[in-house]
Amino acid sequence: MIRTRSLTKDFVVSRTQTVHAVRGISLEIEPGELVAVLGPNGAGKTTTMRMLTTLIPPTSGTATVAGHDVVAEPAEVRRQIGYVGQGNGAGHTQRVRDELYSQGVIYGLDRRAARQRCDELLEALDLKELTARKVSDLSGGQRRRLDVAMGLVHAPSLLFLDEPSTGLDPQNRANLWEHILAMRTAYDMTIVLTTHYLDEADSMAERVVIVDHGEVIADDTAETLKANLAGDRIVVTTTEDAAHRLAQLASQLPGARDLVTDGAAARVEARVSDGPGALPELMRAAEQSGVRITTAQVHRPTLDDVFLTLTGRSLREAGSDQSTAAPDSAPRKDAA
Ligand SMILES: Nc1ncnc2c1ncn2[C@@H]1O[C@H](COP(=O)(O)OP(=O)(O)OP(=O)(O)O)[C@@H](O)[C@H]1O
Ligand SMILES: [Mg+2]
Repeated sequence: MIRTRSLTKDFVVSRTQTVHAVRGISLEIEPGELVAVLGPNGAGKTTTMRMLTTLIPPTSGTATVAGHDVVAEPAEVRRQIGYVGQGNGAGHTQRVRDELYSQGVIYGLDRRAARQRCDELLEALDLKELTARKVSDLSGGQRRRLDVAMGLVHAPSLLFLDEPSTGLDPQNRANLWEHILAMRTAYDMTIVLTTHYLDEADSMAERVVIVDHGEVIADDTAETLKANLAGDRIVVTTTEDAAHRLAQLASQLPGARDLVTDGAAARVEARVSDGPGALPELMRAAEQSGVRITTAQVHRPTLDDVFLTLTGRSLREAGSDQSTAAPDSAPRKDAA
């Protein structure tokens, strides 16, 4: 459905400054996949989507989408895809039904087909009660559902969603997801989306692509990424005087890494491959050394831990401006 080869995009900002927004992305996405693209602000997610949706041309490399080259056959690509841009939020004074209907007509449906498709989507996305409202009066969640409906009006086989759930409350996020997943089954669609909600990517997508500094740094199922890259984190506390002794013991656990000792809180954290196995071992060693453990926990890894392992930065904190201000000569991987 999608195949890119060494896709790049440079933005020339001024004579002395070029932003390397995308630096050689090669991806293959099969029909029917639901792929979540993750990465910090400025990683190049939107830029990649805009190239794949033919809105901007690549600087180099190639991409075919639904069997058509994005540069040579943009019209054919557009016919096959739907795109819901980042923060679309149509701000019009049109009514919901008219907005959707016009979109259908713009996409070349005849009036009857456009009306039919409207009814179908209004029903499927739970917008039926809202058809007579002005678009500008909708709540954030309702508006985002309308955005998705707009992207689906011409029954695309491939849907791009750029941060569909950003800014929605948890209930509306869950509701939007329910609709997206239902649409996917009903229309047999391939879906590529970006999100900053790691839990969402973890639970909904079968495949997670992590992008950083314009490059793909990981691409697998969330389960595999977490198991292979992050490992479990154990957190133990002890009495005030014993933190350093405990840290020493923790460092001897098989595969222990990323050791953090907080002397004041008498807390020690370490990453290990098998948390439930390592913890009893640590407790035994502590007992033998006369170190009293007061609390002990095993945390299963998250996708944020995966990113941390790969880059040394947390996705939650990973800096926004890494490439906005990066001049050509800036080193690439040291933005932490
Ligand atoms: N038209 C443009 N001109 C100059 N720089 C641009 C342009 N569009 C994007 N960029 C820069 O390219 C980089 C990648 O931007 P992009 O929007 O693809 O990031 P993103 O991964 O979508 O981030 P976010 O999570 O914040 O949406 C950023 O540094 C951005 O400032
Ligand atoms: Mg973006």
